[in-house]
Amino acid sequence: MEDLVIQGRFILNGKVVTGYIGICDGKIERFSKAPLRGEDIIKLKHHEILLPGMVDVHVHLRDFSQKGKETVESGTKAALHGGITTVFDMPNTDPPIMDRETFRRRAELFRRKSYADYALGFLIAGNCREAREVEADFYKSFMGASTGGIYSRNFEEDYSCANRRLSVHAEDYKLIQEFPERPAIVEEMAIKRALHAAKSLKKPLHICHVSTAGGLRSILDTAPPWVSFEVTPHHLFLTEKDYRGNRFLRVYPPLRSREDVDFLWRNLDRIPVIASDHAPHTLEDKENGAAGIPGLETELALLLDAHNRGLIGLWEIVEKTSLNPAEIFGVRNKGFGIGKDADLIVVNLKEEWVVKPEDFYTKAKWSPWEGRKLKGKVRMTLLRGKVVMEEDEIVGKPEGVRINAQKG
Ligand code: DOR
Repeated sequence: MEDLVIQGRFILNGKVVTGYIGICDGKIERFSKAPLRGEDIIKLKHHEILLPGMVDVHVHLRDFSQKGKETVESGTKAALHGGITTVFDMPNTDPPIMDRETFRRRAELFRRKSYADYALGFLIAGNCREAREVEADFYKSFMGASTGGIYSRNFEEDYSCANRRLSVHAEDYKLIQEFPERPAIVEEMAIKRALHAAKSLKKPLHICHVSTAGGLRSILDTAPPWVSFEVTPHHLFLTEKDYRGNRFLRVYPPLRSREDVDFLWRNLDRIPVIASDHAPHTLEDKENGAAGIPGLETELALLLDAHNRGLIGLWEIVEKTSLNPAEIFGVRNKGFGIGKDADLIVVNLKEEWVVKPEDFYTKAKWSPWEGRKLKGKVRMTLLRGKVVMEEDEIVGKPEGVRINAQKG
């Protein structure tokens, strides 16, 4: 007898199948074609399909002295609403997470307030000793200043002191001074430098939000196997033309040309990870030039909408938003398979809805896709076998736990 049985369509190893998933003690216990008995049963409806919860490796949750922008509570509720069950917390907070005591405070804050499971990040910029002392789930470095203003003067040295995979924001600080609008060259040169460092240091590296054709080409042509990378929904679904009409779309790296965006799409099958880079700011801060786009509650819907338009396969979505990020960052208990945490989402592939930021849980009450009709919606989210979001309502509690990571 299972604790919970889910009956309906799901996707397994690339194929859509109809059957039963048995869940015990919060973990996936079996997949079956034949009926399973359970204390509880969830039956999927027509047009619904079950997918693994998303593992989002790039999320800015603010809190600390920036509760007006986002809190761990509001941000992790937004994650569950958008089908994301694990968030990677970015450390460019105020104060930044660069020392043991702040890291300890962050861990405590998440333990009390997080509705989703989480990985904790640590910022490295000239603080090697502290970085070595802390067992973070991943490390972060900025090669050029972004929100928070902290960046690495010596990227190679900072990279060398990460205990686990280093996520890098690749924009060159010297070129930013020369070209404040951050044209493609700013990213391309930083990616080249990061790849060069990766080849000599031979340590796991993850290049964040690749946005340019040139940057992506260098990675595809020359990156060693220990280098992973991501693209974001805003760099896939918006271009610099949108930015010209709307200064709310300021983001680092900036939105790019149609040619760059097309290049990302043409090479989608070689892009391992899609991550939201959810970067919430207040409306006032956006008016004053803050960079960043909120994305937790639109990411999956945009991808499902693209799927409905024939642009991306469902299995590709699953790989890039769940399986690959879990694997790359060494998150043993996440992904989709027997023995994994039952972090699952039920999506309706055909439901049409209109993006209304006022209905979102994030405190960033705006979205580049406001007013856009999207086809595809998350109806239910389960975290370790418990329903935590249903029909837009968060029904879970702040019971998120830290991931079980191995060296990734
Ligand atoms: O536009 C951005 N906003 N890019 C980043 O790298 C950071 C982010 C933020 O934290 O606001």
